[in-house]
Amino acid sequence: MPSDMVEQQNSEMDNSAEELARRLNISTMNHTFDKFEKVKGTEEMLDALISIAKGNSDRKFVFLYGTTGNGKTFLIEALLAEWASKGIFVRYNTNSQLMRLLKSHMHPSSTPSYSYEEMFDRVCNRDRLIIDDVGMGTVEGTWELATLEDIINERYHRRYFPKPIMTIMATNKDITKIPARIISRFYDPEVSIVIFNSAPDYRTRRV
Ligand SMILES: Nc1ncnc2c1ncn2[C@@H]1O[C@H](COP(=O)(O)OP(=O)(O)OP(=O)(O)O)[C@@H](O)[C@H]1O
Ligand SMILES: [Mg+2]
Repeated sequence: MPSDMVEQQNSEMDNSAEELARRLNISTMNHTFDKFEKVKGTEEMLDALISIAKGNSDRKFVFLYGTTGNGKTFLIEALLAEWASKGIFVRYNTNSQLMRLLKSHMHPSSTPSYSYEEMFDRVCNRDRLIIDDVGMGTVEGTWELATLEDIINERYHRRYFPKPIMTIMATNKDITKIPARIISRFYDPEVSIVIFNSAPDYRTRRV
């Protein structure tokens, strides 16, 4: 095979990986569990997300927390990449992105063809919902917090429904800063799990 064809194939592969990352709204398909460095303090979060990826966890509410830069988003992206490889396509959202999505359905004149209520229902009914970067303060006013509470409450209400739904939420904030009605549902031992990542900021590691 001529070498330029190999290059072309590689670039097609890159394009499709890039396209998939774009569809999943993640930074790269290269954040996979096997590429995650086993830094001390990350073990529990890594194991829990691998277990979820394999379908070995019955947890419906998963809360991830720990300081900035210690691999929470990497691991969520690895989970989404793993699911995608099994044909399960789940879109990554930060809380801010989710709130903007909902707001974009508020005005009848806006392009989406369905109403805010319908969009809200869709979010509440998603089989798997990712909400990263909760509690950043800058994005959450009273409306955003009340809306987030409503979403979690609706999903919690459906916890015994035959169709299982999973909610994964992450923050780098002190867990006491997360509104009680939200965090309390993630502490329910029947359906939930809270996981702390105690590793330091990987971005500022010494190489
Ligand atoms: N254990 C690790 N192995 C390899 N790369 C890592 C690891 N932990 C973090 N990184 C890298 O460090 C950077 C920060 O990680 P990540 O985005 O996952 O942090 P985070 O915990 O989500 O931080 P924040 O709370 O600020 O959003 C990324 O470039 C990520 O790829
Ligand atoms: Mg992050």
